[in-house]
Amino acid sequence: MTRRKLIAGNWKMNCYKEAGVSLALEIARRYKALSTPSFDVFMAPPFTLLDAVVQATKGTGVWIGAQDCAVEEKGAHTGDVSPEMIKDLGCGGVIVGHSERRADHGETDTLVKEKAKAALRAGLGVIICVGETLQEREAGQALAVVGQQLKGSVPEEAEAGKVVIAYEPVWAIGTGKTPTSADVQEMHAFMRQTLTDMLGSETAQKMQLLYGGSVKPNNAAELLSLPDVDGALIGGASLKADDFWAIAETQLQK
Ligand code: PGA
Repeated sequence: MTRRKLIAGNWKMNCYKEAGVSLALEIARRYKALSTPSFDVFMAPPFTLLDAVVQATKGTGVWIGAQDCAVEEKGAHTGDVSPEMIKDLGCGGVIVGHSERRADHGETDTLVKEKAKAALRAGLGVIICVGETLQEREAGQALAVVGQQLKGSVPEEAEAGKVVIAYEPVWAIGTGKTPTSADVQEMHAFMRQTLTDMLGSETAQKMQLLYGGSVKPNNAAELLSLPDVDGALIGGASLKADDFWAIAETQLQK
């Protein structure tokens, strides 16, 4: 089974307008210059820049999305942004369940699943994040924790092409540390088996599973060559066009 690779950037709470638009323009320019790219590129700027970045990258094939969404479509929810509003801007997707949202805002698997369902309702693609803490890994619970998160966070109606899973060990995010390739492959194979049990083998075989957590130009080729790794979710390195593009370029000629 060959699955198309997805190179995704999560800008987090970074970038003011001018720098954000020029970063997006630079990536889109390089992507558009490829005649038949064999991989997809996704960028998730903060809400404040979504409109400008969508406008700046129109027609380039780059996929733009948000970093979170509300469950409801509209109404009395001060400060929240619905997936329908994100879609209305011309975005194609949204990230849900990032460990920083789970930690900073107490988001549970149940809420993450509701958000994923809301995103699908609005016609957005959704990247659902899971991953264990260092304490859980050291206690030998990494697979069990991620298995639970998948069961709790992935909607029953999830389809490949609309739902992407990102495995991001919490202890690898922003730390420069990564699991060994063997650990990443073990986790991704386990996730695919869990998704097979949940959604059936056809869906699980087609579903893209990303790795995230300190993906950099110097480790991307190895991580992205693992059989069950179908792309990367990149934080820090997505803020520099050269670094993000160096990661994407590992997928040229593949
Ligand atoms: P990082 O972040 O690449 O800076 O480790 C990844 C993420 O949180 O998505």
